[in-house]
Amino acid sequence: MMLARYAVIGNPIEHSKSPLIHTAFARQTGEQLSYTRILGDPLRFEQQVSSFFQQDGQGLNVTVPFKERAWRLADSLGESARSAQAVNTLLAMPDGSLHGENTDGVGLVRDLTINHNRRLGGSRILLLGAGGAAKGVAGPLLAQAPALLLLANRTASKAQQLAQRLDHPGRVEWCGLEDLEGRTFDLIINATAAGLDAAVPALPEGILEPGGWVYDLMYASQPTAFVRWGEKQQAGQCLDGLGMLVEQAAESFFLWRGVRPDTAPVIAMLSGG
Ligand code: ATR
Repeated sequence: MMLARYAVIGNPIEHSKSPLIHTAFARQTGEQLSYTRILGDPLRFEQQVSSFFQQDGQGLNVTVPFKERAWRLADSLGESARSAQAVNTLLAMPDGSLHGENTDGVGLVRDLTINHNRRLGGSRILLLGAGGAAKGVAGPLLAQAPALLLLANRTASKAQQLAQRLDHPGRVEWCGLEDLEGRTFDLIINATAAGLDAAVPALPEGILEPGGWVYDLMYASQPTAFVRWGEKQQAGQCLDGLGMLVEQAAESFFLWRGVRPDTAPVIAMLSGG
């Protein structure tokens, strides 16, 4: 029997954990599928996607730097992909068209609310960054009805653009990183790329409420710079993006197969637990 074909496409791709995660989900749920890595070529990403689906591919995960190109390429979009202006999950539809979804934001929300039992309704949330990662999670965070979602970015105008697109005056605000003095938050989420240089956006002392939480969308085998910053602030919890990584994968798996895998054993496996 031909196995249903799935893959992740990105560049670089060799360190992607998606094959490991989806293979674990398939084993756990008894779904018969293969899941491989494709090194995306910036000159012919669109052709690579078409030929994958022409050769019986059923679904693709799309990662850096192609999520926006996948959003342009998809024939139809789910609400999350429309609001993120980025696609991380492509599905082959029965009529041969390609449907795009974005499971990153749902993944973050599920990690916080289900895995860590954190209520987001009524919270004061600071989202750092206004690039691709921030765009992917802002809409789903807002859907949790926080008291405030403040978008703060080094380049303030980009935070302004994102806030305007979310179009929830009163609940969504924006500012530059230098405008955070004197403000406090229950949850601070790092969606900047500063961690790639082991840096942390400069934040004023006392910005985290006592017992407040810190979440870094980045994930590494060692505690990230932002997680270490949170520990110094004596945050109630300091989480990195591992849970989100597994949850966004589970959401993709569910969209493709109609079966929801149990994420806890896979998170435990990846964290070496
Ligand atoms: P990604 O897809 O990871 O979000 P991106 O779209 O290039 O990548 O966005 C990177 C984000 O990290 C931006 O918000 C960027 O701020 P600018 O818009 O001002 O460039 C932010 N960023 C990168 N390095 C940073 C640093 N050292 N301190 C603070 N913010 C940083």
